[in-house]
Amino acid sequence: MLFRSWDESVDERWPDVATVADHVGVDHLVVTRHALVRQVLADPTTWRPENALDAVTPMPVAALRILARHRFRLPPTLANNSGPSHPQIRGIVAEALHPDRVAALQPWLADLVRGRVARLADALDAGEPVDLYATLAADLPLLALARLVALPDAPVGTVKEFARAALELFWAPLDADRQQALATEVGRFHTVLRDFAATGGGLAASLRAAGHSPDVVVGALFFLLVAGQETTSQFLTLLLHRLTGEPEVRAGLRAGTVAVADVIEEGLRLEPPIVTWRRVAAVDTTLGGTAVAAGTSVVLWLARAGRDPAVVATPDAFRPGQRGSRRHLAFGAGAHRCVGAQLARMEAAVVVAEAAPLLDGVTVVRPPWCPDNLTFRMPDAFVIRRR
Ligand code: HEM
Repeated sequence: MLFRSWDESVDERWPDVATVADHVGVDHLVVTRHALVRQVLADPTTWRPENALDAVTPMPVAALRILARHRFRLPPTLANNSGPSHPQIRGIVAEALHPDRVAALQPWLADLVRGRVARLADALDAGEPVDLYATLAADLPLLALARLVALPDAPVGTVKEFARAALELFWAPLDADRQQALATEVGRFHTVLRDFAATGGGLAASLRAAGHSPDVVVGALFFLLVAGQETTSQFLTLLLHRLTGEPEVRAGLRAGTVAVADVIEEGLRLEPPIVTWRRVAAVDTTLGGTAVAAGTSVVLWLARAGRDPAVVATPDAFRPGQRGSRRHLAFGAGAHRCVGAQLARMEAAVVVAEAAPLLDGVTVVRPPWCPDNLTFRMPDAFVIRRR
């Protein structure tokens, strides 16, 4: 279950919490119910976030040496930080992603997406196959992020390769050769980030001015470049694929009887790009009546929590606006709740509003395929063709 949790049928019965051993024999406490996942997220004292970015496949010395050569470090900054510096770092990042700045970006994004969709419609009309991941979902979130946060001047493809390598290196089951290759890729771009962190403007300059060490600035940029764009690319791909099989929802969008915002929330509930997120027990405690020892890795099954029948009327059906639809935990909750939620929602709303009509009358040539991963879906392609 751990590395392909999205394949697990919702009919499969799971206890509220279950101990599951991973590929290297480490036990994780998997939390399956909405109320318990929420309880953990809401209590950062008992359940700490320090393990959020730990490599699920322990790194062999060779890979660690490669990272060390690039002076790679991930100190507590955002998702993995329960220390006193967290609120301030989060505040500076939140300022860069302020809802007003996100709203101001919307017309630019809508224009960009409209132009692309028109070209894609022409290609579909001409009978050509179209990969909606490659042509729409892959780069938009990074282009949008770059307008809000000053980033190193690197080609989009380079950043995407680095981000996907990081998601694989830290969250996938891997062999030693693959770890070395990924460590090289991640380390190389980390050097670019380190240089930029020392001199760059915008967010990097604000963090420096607030007295944060170069490692913290690099850590914040690292997390933003990975979580702040790759997640949304994945979500857009999964949501467009899902909508291809939901003609009634598309008809409702067309007729104006289904709200785009409701489609996004139902999409986040049913197709979250982040399927699990980790915490670690800080003390001996209990969860749902089960004793949990200090140090236990806790895997919060966010995707399953979104389908909890205690919360949603028809858990498996895509019904925008249904009772409980918005109560998903796709963005986490509490002190570490996703700071980019507003941005991700705006991007998804633009893409759904503009691109949903492309899906009428198409056939799926190649559905998204997702490699084994504890946390991220990472779809690789989504190809359609007009019937
Ligand atoms: C659909 C897209 C996205 C999803 C599903 C998502 C999901 C998540 C989740 C599950 C967490 C952990 C929350 C917790 O521990 O309670 C998180 C944290 C975070 N996300 Fe997102 N995210 C998305 C997009 C973004 C974007 C676009 C940005 C910024 C540009 C972003 C920035 C962050 C940051 C900075 C944190 C760490 C917050 C903290 O620890 O204080 N995310 N996100």
